[in-house]
Amino acid sequence: MQNRMMVTGAGSGLGREIALRWAREGWQLALSDVNEAGLAETLKMVREAGGDGFTQRCDVRDYSQLTALAQACETRLGGIDVVVNNAGVASGGFFDELSLEDWDWQIAINLMGVVKGCKAFLPLVQKSHGKIINIASMAALMQAPGMSNYNVAKAGVVALSESLLVELKQQEVSVHVVCPSFFQTNLMDSYRGPTPNMKAQISKLLEASPITAADIADYIYRQVAEGVFMILPHEEGRMAWKIKQQNPQAIYDEMGALAEKKRNKSRT
Ligand SMILES: NC(=O)c1ccc[n+]([C@@H]2O[C@H](COP(=O)([O-])OP(=O)(O)OC[C@H]3O[C@@H](n4cnc5c(N)ncnc54)[C@H](O)[C@@H]3O)[C@@H](O)[C@H]2O)c1
Repeated sequence: MQNRMMVTGAGSGLGREIALRWAREGWQLALSDVNEAGLAETLKMVREAGGDGFTQRCDVRDYSQLTALAQACETRLGGIDVVVNNAGVASGGFFDELSLEDWDWQIAINLMGVVKGCKAFLPLVQKSHGKIINIASMAALMQAPGMSNYNVAKAGVVALSESLLVELKQQEVSVHVVCPSFFQTNLMDSYRGPTPNMKAQISKLLEASPITAADIADYIYRQVAEGVFMILPHEEGRMAWKIKQQNPQAIYDEMGALAEKKRNKSRT
């Protein structure tokens, strides 16, 4: 029986909702984040939802904190069946304005945080024949303008997940990657970027989402149960990805027009 899950970035937003969705099935949760107050709140909600578990502060940039977390999962839960690499931050800005420090920061959390999470927890999921769920973004597939460092980090998460899917198949470890469009969370609290007005533009897109983080967590739960590798929770995301596969130029043209619009807006 599989019933132990570890979630990074579990103190807020999608990470919290994923923990709650599995908690409703009675799972044990190892909840990690840099936000300890958020973690305490999530654990309380997990218990109310029918699950249990523990919290541990863990910055996904620091491999030693992730291996310590894996060790704690072995000691306290006897192992882990599902690893969710969810922790992430927001960024924006045109390429000519982004600094190399902006790139290092974004890649260290949104890409290398997932690489390190997979590496630290691999022995545990190999042992349990468990699952890895990586949270990427539609940004990985669409390459929207004004967020190249975020796009690249998330495209890396998709490429890593595809690589692990094929490499771990024979070891009976299943791999899933989730690519949501925008949805409302606290993500913009972590925003970093040089371009004026870009934060407000992205915040509006989050607010306009037709679905919530809880809807997305439920969609992930159902798709993982069905064994789907690439999980696209937004209807419009599924449509856009279909078009891109059939006619990439149509998407490039649309993104080119959007880039012009965004640049004009960011100057006002
Ligand atoms: N909200 C959206 O529109 C959207 C769209 C696509 C993908 N995503 C992805 O979903 C994931 C969850 O984001 P969210 O929207 O729930 O945002 P959120 O800010 O509500 O939650 C992210 C959590 O990650 C934690 N975190 C940040 N840096 C960390 C670090 N170095 N180590 C450990 N924890 C860290 C934060 O403290 C926070 O609790 C992210 O990977 C994000 O990129 C979000």
